[in-house]
Amino acid sequence: MKIAVAGTGYVGLVTGVCLAEKGFSVSCVDIEERKVDLMRSGISPIFEPGLEELMIKNRKKLNFTTNYKEAYKDADVIFIGVGTPEKHDGSANLNYVYSAATEIAESIEKDCVVVVKSTVPVGTNDKIEELIKSNLAHNVKVHLASNPEFLAQGTALKDTLNPSRIVIGVEDSIAGEILQEVYKGFDAPVLVTNRKSAEMIKYASNDFLALKISFINEIANLCEIIGADIDDVALGMGYDNRIGNRFLNAGIGYGGSCFPKDTKALHWLANFHDNELKTIKAAIDVNENQKIKLIKKSRKYFNSLKGLNVAVLGLTFKPGTDDLREAPSLVNIPIMLEDGANIKAWDPVGMKNFQKKYPEGVTYCFTIEETLKDADLCFIFTEWDEVKEFGLSKYRQLMRNPIILDGRNCYDLTSAKKANIIYDSMGRETIN
Ligand code: UGA
Repeated sequence: MKIAVAGTGYVGLVTGVCLAEKGFSVSCVDIEERKVDLMRSGISPIFEPGLEELMIKNRKKLNFTTNYKEAYKDADVIFIGVGTPEKHDGSANLNYVYSAATEIAESIEKDCVVVVKSTVPVGTNDKIEELIKSNLAHNVKVHLASNPEFLAQGTALKDTLNPSRIVIGVEDSIAGEILQEVYKGFDAPVLVTNRKSAEMIKYASNDFLALKISFINEIANLCEIIGADIDDVALGMGYDNRIGNRFLNAGIGYGGSCFPKDTKALHWLANFHDNELKTIKAAIDVNENQKIKLIKKSRKYFNSLKGLNVAVLGLTFKPGTDDLREAPSLVNIPIMLEDGANIKAWDPVGMKNFQKKYPEGVTYCFTIEETLKDADLCFIFTEWDEVKEFGLSKYRQLMRNPIILDGRNCYDLTSAKKANIIYDSMGRETIN
Protein backbone atom coordinates (compact mmCIF):
# COMPACT_ATOMS: atom_id res chain seq x y z
CA MET A 1 0.00 0.00 0.00
CA LYS A 2 1.40 3.42 -0.95
CA ILE A 3 0.73 6.24 1.46
CA ALA A 4 1.11 10.01 1.12
CA VAL A 5 0.69 12.65 3.81
CA ALA A 6 -0.12 16.30 3.15
CA GLY A 7 1.57 18.59 5.69
CA THR A 8 4.59 18.00 7.92
CA GLY A 9 3.51 19.77 11.11
CA TYR A 10 2.87 17.84 14.31
CA VAL A 11 0.03 15.75 12.96
CA GLY A 12 1.34 15.21 9.41
CA LEU A 13 4.96 14.44 10.16
CA VAL A 14 4.28 12.24 13.18
CA THR A 15 1.63 10.30 11.23
CA GLY A 16 4.00 9.79 8.30
CA VAL A 17 6.93 8.70 10.43
CA CYS A 18 4.81 6.36 12.59
CA LEU A 19 3.25 4.72 9.52
CA ALA A 20 6.77 4.18 8.14
CA GLU A 21 7.69 2.64 11.49
CA LYS A 22 4.75 0.25 11.00
CA GLY A 23 6.20 -0.81 7.65
CA PHE A 24 4.50 1.44 5.07
CA SER A 25 6.31 3.43 2.45
CA VAL A 26 5.24 7.04 2.94
CA SER A 27 5.66 10.27 0.97
CA CYS A 28 5.43 13.36 3.16
CA VAL A 29 4.48 16.50 1.26
CA ASP A 30 5.11 20.07 2.31
CA ILE A 31 5.01 23.33 0.39
CA GLU A 32 8.18 24.66 2.06
CA GLU A 33 11.37 23.62 0.26
CA ARG A 34 13.45 24.56 3.33
CA LYS A 35 11.52 22.17 5.58
CA VAL A 36 11.73 19.38 3.05
CA ASP A 37 15.52 19.80 2.77
CA LEU A 38 15.84 19.61 6.54
CA MET A 39 13.74 16.46 6.77
CA ARG A 40 15.69 14.82 3.95
CA SER A 41 18.82 15.27 6.01
CA GLY A 42 17.15 13.64 9.02
CA ILE A 43 16.33 16.88 10.84
CA SER A 44 12.83 17.40 12.17
CA PRO A 45 11.41 20.92 11.68
CA ILE A 46 9.45 20.46 14.91
CA PHE A 47 10.75 19.70 18.40
CA GLU A 48 9.38 16.34 19.44
CA PRO A 49 11.32 13.88 21.61
CA GLY A 50 12.36 10.76 19.66
CA LEU A 51 11.07 11.96 16.28
CA GLU A 52 14.42 12.47 14.57
CA GLU A 53 15.64 9.05 15.72
CA LEU A 54 12.55 7.44 14.18
CA MET A 55 12.95 9.50 10.97
CA ILE A 56 16.52 8.28 10.61
CA LYS A 57 15.63 4.69 11.48
CA ASN A 58 12.93 4.64 8.77
CA ARG A 59 14.65 6.83 6.20
CA LYS A 60 14.39 4.19 3.45
CA LYS A 61 10.62 4.09 3.80
CA LEU A 62 10.21 7.89 3.98
CA ASN A 63 10.25 10.31 1.09
CA PHE A 64 10.02 14.06 1.71
CA THR A 65 8.96 16.22 -1.19
CA THR A 66 7.35 19.44 -2.38
CA ASN A 67 6.25 17.67 -5.55
CA TYR A 68 2.72 16.85 -4.49
CA LYS A 69 1.67 15.63 -7.95
CA GLU A 70 4.30 12.91 -7.87
CA ALA A 71 3.44 11.93 -4.28
CA TYR A 72 -0.32 11.79 -4.75
CA LYS A 73 -0.74 10.45 -8.28
CA ASP A 74 -0.55 6.72 -7.46
CA ALA A 75 -1.10 6.74 -3.67
CA ASP A 76 -3.62 4.30 -2.24
CA VAL A 77 -4.23 6.38 0.86
CA ILE A 78 -3.59 10.13 1.28
CA PHE A 79 -3.73 11.64 4.76
CA ILE A 80 -4.40 15.35 5.16
CA GLY A 81 -2.55 16.57 8.27
CA VAL A 82 -2.23 20.31 7.66
CA GLY A 83 -2.97 22.97 10.28
CA THR A 84 -6.37 24.54 11.00
CA PRO A 85 -5.38 27.68 12.94
CA GLU A 86 -7.83 29.94 14.70
CA LYS A 87 -9.33 32.91 12.85
CA HIS A 88 -10.05 36.25 14.55
CA ASP A 89 -13.68 35.32 15.20
CA GLY A 90 -12.70 32.00 16.86
CA SER A 91 -13.70 29.84 13.88
CA ALA A 92 -11.20 27.45 12.25
CA ASN A 93 -9.21 28.61 9.22
CA LEU A 94 -9.66 25.83 6.67
CA ASN A 95 -7.63 27.36 3.84
CA TYR A 96 -4.74 24.89 4.19
CA VAL A 97 -7.09 21.91 4.26
CA TYR A 98 -8.95 23.11 1.18
CA SER A 99 -5.79 23.81 -0.76
CA ALA A 100 -4.40 20.34 0.10
CA ALA A 101 -7.72 18.83 -1.05
CA THR A 102 -7.56 20.75 -4.33
CA GLU A 103 -3.98 19.62 -4.97
CA ILE A 104 -5.02 16.02 -4.30
CA ALA A 105 -7.92 16.32 -6.76
CA GLU A 106 -5.63 17.72 -9.45
CA SER A 107 -3.02 15.00 -8.95
CA ILE A 108 -4.61 11.59 -8.34
CA GLU A 109 -4.58 9.19 -11.26
CA LYS A 110 -6.13 6.15 -9.53
CA ASP A 111 -8.91 5.44 -7.05
CA CYS A 112 -7.84 6.26 -3.52
CA VAL A 113 -8.91 6.95 0.04
CA VAL A 114 -8.40 10.51 1.30
CA VAL A 115 -8.21 10.64 5.08
CA VAL A 116 -8.71 13.89 6.98
CA LYS A 117 -6.60 13.90 10.15
CA SER A 118 -6.60 17.67 10.65
CA THR A 119 -9.07 18.88 13.27
CA VAL A 120 -11.94 20.30 11.25
CA PRO A 121 -15.39 21.55 12.24
CA VAL A 122 -18.24 19.09 12.00
CA GLY A 123 -19.45 18.91 8.39
CA THR A 124 -16.12 19.93 6.81
CA ASN A 125 -15.40 16.43 5.49
CA ASP A 126 -18.53 16.68 3.32
CA LYS A 127 -17.25 19.96 1.89
CA ILE A 128 -13.81 18.47 1.26
CA GLU A 129 -15.41 15.57 -0.59
CA GLU A 130 -17.39 17.94 -2.81
CA LEU A 131 -14.29 20.05 -3.44
CA ILE A 132 -12.22 17.04 -4.46
CA LYS A 133 -14.95 15.61 -6.68
CA SER A 134 -15.47 18.90 -8.48
CA ASN A 135 -11.73 19.41 -9.14
CA LEU A 136 -10.74 15.88 -10.24
CA ALA A 137 -8.34 15.96 -13.18
CA HIS A 138 -8.79 12.24 -13.93
CA ASN A 139 -11.78 9.94 -13.93
CA VAL A 140 -11.11 8.22 -10.60
CA LYS A 141 -13.09 7.40 -7.46
CA VAL A 142 -12.25 9.07 -4.15
CA HIS A 143 -13.42 7.70 -0.81
CA LEU A 144 -13.24 10.24 1.97
CA ALA A 145 -12.71 9.35 5.63
CA SER A 146 -12.40 11.33 8.82
CA ASN A 147 -9.71 9.89 11.11
CA PRO A 148 -9.00 12.36 13.91
CA GLU A 149 -5.66 12.39 15.68
CA PHE A 150 -5.35 12.30 19.47
CA LEU A 151 -1.62 12.88 19.93
CA ALA A 152 -0.29 15.37 22.46
CA GLN A 153 2.92 17.34 21.93
CA GLY A 154 5.85 15.90 23.85
CA THR A 155 4.36 12.38 23.76
CA ALA A 156 3.36 12.37 20.10
CA LEU A 157 5.15 9.17 19.09
CA LYS A 158 3.83 7.10 21.97
CA ASP A 159 0.33 8.51 21.45
CA THR A 160 0.41 7.64 17.74
CA LEU A 161 2.06 4.22 17.96
CA ASN A 162 -0.08 3.18 20.95
CA PRO A 163 -3.24 5.24 20.56
CA SER A 164 -6.06 5.21 23.10
CA ARG A 165 -8.45 4.59 20.20
CA ILE A 166 -8.68 4.74 16.42
CA VAL A 167 -11.71 6.60 15.17
CA ILE A 168 -12.72 6.03 11.57
CA GLY A 169 -15.55 8.14 10.18
CA VAL A 170 -16.79 6.93 6.80
CA GLU A 171 -19.81 7.06 4.55
CA ASP A 172 -18.85 4.02 2.46
CA SER A 173 -17.50 0.56 3.25
CA ILE A 174 -14.43 0.77 0.97
CA ALA A 175 -12.87 3.64 2.91
CA GLY A 176 -13.61 1.83 6.18
CA GLU A 177 -12.03 -1.44 5.01
CA ILE A 178 -8.88 0.20 3.65
CA LEU A 179 -8.34 2.23 6.81
CA GLN A 180 -8.84 -0.83 9.00
CA GLU A 181 -6.14 -2.49 6.89
CA VAL A 182 -3.80 0.49 7.49
CA TYR A 183 -4.33 0.24 11.24
CA LYS A 184 -4.09 -3.57 11.42
CA GLY A 185 -0.71 -3.38 13.16
CA PHE A 186 -1.94 -1.03 15.92
CA ASP A 187 -3.16 -2.37 19.23
CA ALA A 188 -6.12 -0.10 20.02
CA PRO A 189 -9.92 -0.18 19.99
CA VAL A 190 -11.27 0.82 16.60
CA LEU A 191 -14.52 2.76 16.33
CA VAL A 192 -16.08 2.96 12.91
CA THR A 193 -18.76 5.63 12.70
CA ASN A 194 -20.07 8.22 10.28
CA ARG A 195 -17.91 11.20 9.33
CA LYS A 196 -19.76 13.84 11.35
CA SER A 197 -19.56 11.75 14.51
CA ALA A 198 -15.82 11.23 14.00
CA GLU A 199 -15.32 14.98 13.57
CA MET A 200 -17.36 15.60 16.71
CA ILE A 201 -15.46 12.99 18.76
CA LYS A 202 -12.28 15.01 18.24
CA TYR A 203 -13.77 18.34 19.34
CA ALA A 204 -15.81 16.85 22.16
CA SER A 205 -12.71 15.04 23.52
CA ASN A 206 -10.49 18.11 23.49
CA ASP A 207 -13.21 20.37 24.85
CA PHE A 208 -14.02 17.92 27.62
CA LEU A 209 -10.36 17.86 28.69
CA ALA A 210 -10.26 21.67 28.59
CA LEU A 211 -13.42 21.70 30.70
CA LYS A 212 -11.83 19.31 33.18
CA ILE A 213 -8.81 21.63 33.52
CA SER A 214 -10.92 24.76 33.95
CA PHE A 215 -13.07 22.93 36.49
CA ILE A 216 -10.10 21.85 38.61
CA ASN A 217 -8.63 25.36 38.32
CA GLU A 218 -11.83 26.89 39.69
CA ILE A 219 -11.86 24.37 42.53
CA ALA A 220 -8.18 25.17 43.19
CA ASN A 221 -8.96 28.89 43.38
CA LEU A 222 -11.68 28.14 45.93
CA CYS A 223 -9.37 25.80 47.88
CA GLU A 224 -6.96 28.71 48.34
CA ILE A 225 -9.72 30.88 49.76
CA ILE A 226 -11.19 28.32 52.14
CA GLY A 227 -7.97 26.53 53.14
CA ALA A 228 -8.35 23.19 51.37
CA ASP A 229 -5.53 21.53 49.43
CA ILE A 230 -6.07 20.94 45.69
CA ASP A 231 -3.53 18.10 45.50
CA ASP A 232 -5.50 16.08 48.03
CA VAL A 233 -8.81 17.12 46.51
CA ALA A 234 -7.71 15.98 43.03
CA LEU A 235 -6.27 12.75 44.46
CA GLY A 236 -9.49 12.03 46.29
CA MET A 237 -11.59 12.74 43.20
CA GLY A 238 -9.34 10.72 40.92
CA TYR A 239 -9.82 7.47 42.86
CA ASP A 240 -13.33 7.44 41.40
CA ASN A 241 -12.73 5.91 38.00
CA ARG A 242 -15.82 7.60 36.64
CA ILE A 243 -13.83 10.82 37.11
CA GLY A 244 -10.32 9.47 36.48
CA ASN A 245 -7.12 10.85 37.94
CA ARG A 246 -5.65 12.49 34.82
CA PHE A 247 -5.97 16.11 33.72
CA LEU A 248 -6.74 17.22 37.24
CA ASN A 249 -3.54 19.23 37.65
CA ALA A 250 -4.42 22.74 38.70
CA GLY A 251 -2.32 25.47 37.14
CA ILE A 252 -2.27 28.74 35.26
CA GLY A 253 -4.51 27.44 32.53
CA TYR A 254 -4.27 25.41 29.36
CA GLY A 255 -2.35 26.65 26.35
CA GLY A 256 -1.09 25.07 23.15
CA SER A 257 -2.37 24.82 19.65
CA CYS A 258 -5.39 22.66 20.44
CA PHE A 259 -7.52 23.30 23.53
CA PRO A 260 -7.76 27.10 23.14
CA LYS A 261 -8.52 26.82 19.42
CA ASP A 262 -10.85 23.82 19.62
CA THR A 263 -12.95 25.19 22.49
CA LYS A 264 -13.46 28.44 20.59
CA ALA A 265 -14.16 26.66 17.30
CA LEU A 266 -16.84 24.37 18.78
CA HIS A 267 -18.39 27.29 20.65
CA TRP A 268 -18.42 29.28 17.41
CA LEU A 269 -19.98 26.40 15.50
CA ALA A 270 -22.72 25.92 18.10
CA ASN A 271 -23.50 29.66 18.04
CA PHE A 272 -23.67 29.50 14.27
CA HIS A 273 -26.41 26.91 14.73
CA ASP A 274 -28.10 29.11 17.37
CA ASN A 275 -27.16 26.75 20.14
CA GLU A 276 -24.75 28.20 22.69
CA LEU A 277 -22.48 25.72 24.51
CA LYS A 278 -22.53 27.27 27.97
CA THR A 279 -20.10 24.84 29.59
CA ILE A 280 -17.50 25.42 26.89
CA LYS A 281 -17.96 29.19 27.18
CA ALA A 282 -17.33 28.86 30.93
CA ALA A 283 -14.17 26.78 30.32
CA ILE A 284 -12.85 29.48 27.95
CA ASP A 285 -13.62 32.33 30.36
CA VAL A 286 -12.12 30.55 33.37
CA ASN A 287 -8.96 29.84 31.36
CA GLU A 288 -8.50 33.46 30.29
CA ASN A 289 -8.59 34.56 33.93
CA GLN A 290 -6.45 31.70 35.11
CA LYS A 291 -3.60 32.73 32.85
CA ILE A 292 -3.11 35.96 34.80
CA LYS A 293 -3.61 34.41 38.21
CA LEU A 294 0.07 34.74 39.17
CA ILE A 295 0.19 38.42 38.25
CA LYS A 296 -2.85 38.92 40.49
CA LYS A 297 -1.09 36.99 43.27
CA SER A 298 2.02 39.16 42.86
CA ARG A 299 -0.07 42.20 43.88
CA LYS A 300 -0.30 40.69 47.37
CA TYR A 301 3.44 41.24 47.69
CA PHE A 302 4.08 44.34 45.56
CA ASN A 303 1.71 47.03 44.26
CA SER A 304 3.60 47.07 41.01
CA LEU A 305 6.56 45.23 39.50
CA LYS A 306 8.24 48.52 38.57
CA GLY A 307 11.99 48.34 39.05
CA LEU A 308 11.85 44.80 40.49
CA ASN A 309 14.06 41.96 39.32
CA VAL A 310 11.67 39.30 38.11
CA ALA A 311 12.78 35.73 37.30
CA VAL A 312 10.67 33.68 34.90
CA LEU A 313 11.12 29.91 34.76
CA GLY A 314 9.46 28.26 31.75
CA LEU A 315 8.06 29.94 28.66
CA THR A 316 6.45 27.10 26.66
CA PHE A 317 2.81 26.06 27.13
CA LYS A 318 3.94 22.76 28.64
CA PRO A 319 7.18 20.79 29.07
CA GLY A 320 8.52 18.60 26.25
CA THR A 321 7.92 21.15 23.52
CA ASP A 322 9.37 24.42 22.21
CA ASP A 323 5.87 25.57 21.28
CA LEU A 324 4.70 28.90 22.66
CA ARG A 325 1.26 28.99 21.16
CA GLU A 326 -1.26 30.32 23.72
CA ALA A 327 1.37 29.90 26.47
CA PRO A 328 0.62 31.80 29.70
CA SER A 329 4.09 33.43 29.41
CA LEU A 330 2.84 35.34 26.36
CA VAL A 331 0.10 36.95 28.42
CA ASN A 332 2.17 37.57 31.55
CA ILE A 333 5.46 38.92 30.22
CA PRO A 334 3.83 41.87 28.36
CA ILE A 335 2.08 42.82 31.63
CA MET A 336 5.40 42.66 33.50
CA LEU A 337 7.10 44.77 30.83
CA GLU A 338 4.27 47.31 30.96
CA ASP A 339 4.74 47.43 34.75
CA GLY A 340 8.45 48.21 34.27
CA ALA A 341 9.96 44.98 35.67
CA ASN A 342 13.54 43.88 34.92
CA ILE A 343 12.88 40.42 33.54
CA LYS A 344 15.26 37.48 33.33
CA ALA A 345 13.84 34.35 31.70
CA TRP A 346 14.89 30.74 31.26
CA ASP A 347 13.46 27.85 29.27
CA PRO A 348 15.41 24.78 28.13
CA VAL A 349 14.01 24.81 24.56
CA GLY A 350 11.52 27.65 24.14
CA MET A 351 13.84 30.63 24.55
CA LYS A 352 14.79 31.04 20.89
CA ASN A 353 11.15 31.21 19.81
CA PHE A 354 10.33 33.64 22.62
CA GLN A 355 13.27 35.85 21.80
CA LYS A 356 11.94 36.25 18.25
CA LYS A 357 8.77 37.76 19.72
CA TYR A 358 10.49 39.71 22.48
CA PRO A 359 14.02 40.53 21.34
CA GLU A 360 14.21 43.40 23.83
CA GLY A 361 13.15 43.96 27.43
CA VAL A 362 13.89 40.40 28.56
CA THR A 363 17.32 39.01 29.50
CA TYR A 364 17.54 35.38 28.42
CA CYS A 365 19.56 33.12 30.73
CA PHE A 366 21.06 29.71 30.08
CA THR A 367 20.79 28.46 33.65
CA ILE A 368 18.20 28.63 36.40
CA GLU A 369 20.88 29.95 38.77
CA GLU A 370 21.63 32.91 36.51
CA THR A 371 17.91 33.65 36.20
CA LEU A 372 17.31 33.66 39.94
CA LYS A 373 20.39 35.70 40.86
CA ASP A 374 19.26 38.79 42.82
CA ALA A 375 15.60 38.34 41.84
CA ASP A 376 12.85 39.86 44.00
CA LEU A 377 10.20 37.54 42.70
CA CYS A 378 10.12 34.31 40.69
CA PHE A 379 7.29 33.16 38.41
CA ILE A 380 7.11 29.50 37.36
CA PHE A 381 5.07 29.06 34.18
CA THR A 382 6.14 25.58 32.98
CA GLU A 383 6.82 22.43 35.03
CA TRP A 384 10.08 21.45 33.34
CA ASP A 385 11.95 18.61 35.11
CA GLU A 386 14.92 20.96 35.50
CA VAL A 387 12.70 23.21 37.65
CA LYS A 388 11.18 20.36 39.64
CA GLU A 389 14.64 19.00 40.36
CA PHE A 390 16.10 22.40 41.32
CA GLY A 391 16.47 22.46 45.12
CA LEU A 392 14.21 24.96 46.87
CA SER A 393 16.97 26.00 49.26
CA LYS A 394 18.86 27.45 46.28
CA TYR A 395 16.09 30.02 45.73
CA ARG A 396 16.84 31.37 49.18
CA GLN A 397 20.58 31.53 48.43
CA LEU A 398 20.27 33.13 45.00
CA MET A 399 17.32 35.51 45.22
CA ARG A 400 17.35 38.93 46.86
CA ASN A 401 13.86 38.23 48.06
CA PRO A 402 12.82 34.56 47.90
CA ILE A 403 9.18 34.90 46.81
CA ILE A 404 8.16 32.11 44.45
CA LEU A 405 4.87 32.18 42.58
CA ASP A 406 4.48 28.68 41.17
CA GLY A 407 1.83 28.34 38.46
CA ARG A 408 2.44 24.59 38.01
CA ASN A 409 2.85 23.23 41.57
CA CYS A 410 6.38 21.97 40.96
CA TYR A 411 7.23 21.46 44.64
CA ASP A 412 5.62 19.77 47.59
CA LEU A 413 4.69 21.92 50.54
CA THR A 414 6.76 19.95 53.05
CA SER A 415 9.97 20.87 51.19
CA ALA A 416 8.78 24.45 50.80
CA LYS A 417 8.23 24.72 54.55
CA LYS A 418 11.83 23.67 55.20
CA ALA A 419 13.31 26.07 52.62
CA ASN A 420 12.64 29.35 54.42
CA ILE A 421 11.02 31.01 51.41
CA ILE A 422 7.65 32.46 50.47
CA TYR A 423 6.08 29.83 48.27
CA ASP A 424 2.70 30.66 46.74
CA SER A 425 1.35 27.91 44.46
CA MET A 426 -2.01 26.95 42.96
CA GLY A 427 -4.87 25.82 45.19
CA ARG A 428 -2.66 25.22 48.22
CA GLU A 429 -1.65 26.94 51.42
CA THR A 430 0.87 29.76 50.98
CA ILE A 431 4.11 28.96 52.77
CA ASN A 432 5.90 31.90 54.37
C1 UGA B 1 -4.03 18.06 23.42
C2 UGA B 1 -4.69 16.73 23.80
O1 UGA B 1 -4.18 16.28 25.06
C3 UGA B 1 -4.44 15.66 22.75
O2 UGA B 1 -5.17 14.48 23.07
C4 UGA B 1 -4.92 16.19 21.39
O3 UGA B 1 -4.72 15.23 20.35
C5 UGA B 1 -4.17 17.45 21.08
O4 UGA B 1 -4.46 18.43 22.10
C6 UGA B 1 -4.61 17.96 19.72
O5 UGA B 1 -5.79 18.21 19.51
O6 UGA B 1 -3.79 17.97 18.78
P1 UGA B 1 -1.58 19.12 23.68
O7 UGA B 1 -2.24 20.43 23.40
O8 UGA B 1 -0.35 18.77 22.93
O9 UGA B 1 -2.63 17.89 23.44
O10 UGA B 1 -1.17 19.08 25.21
P2 UGA B 1 -1.83 18.64 26.62
O11 UGA B 1 -0.90 17.74 27.29
O12 UGA B 1 -3.20 18.19 26.46
O13 UGA B 1 -1.81 20.03 27.42
C7 UGA B 1 -2.58 21.15 27.00
C8 UGA B 1 -2.54 22.21 28.06
O14 UGA B 1 -3.28 21.82 29.20
C9 UGA B 1 -1.13 22.55 28.58
O15 UGA B 1 -0.98 23.95 28.69
C10 UGA B 1 -1.08 21.90 29.96
O16 UGA B 1 -0.22 22.56 30.84
C11 UGA B 1 -2.53 22.04 30.39
N1 UGA B 1 -2.91 21.04 31.40
C12 UGA B 1 -2.97 19.73 31.10
C13 UGA B 1 -3.24 21.48 32.69
O17 UGA B 1 -3.22 22.69 32.99
N2 UGA B 1 -3.62 20.55 33.63
C14 UGA B 1 -3.68 19.22 33.34
O18 UGA B 1 -4.04 18.43 34.25
C15 UGA B 1 -3.33 18.80 32.05
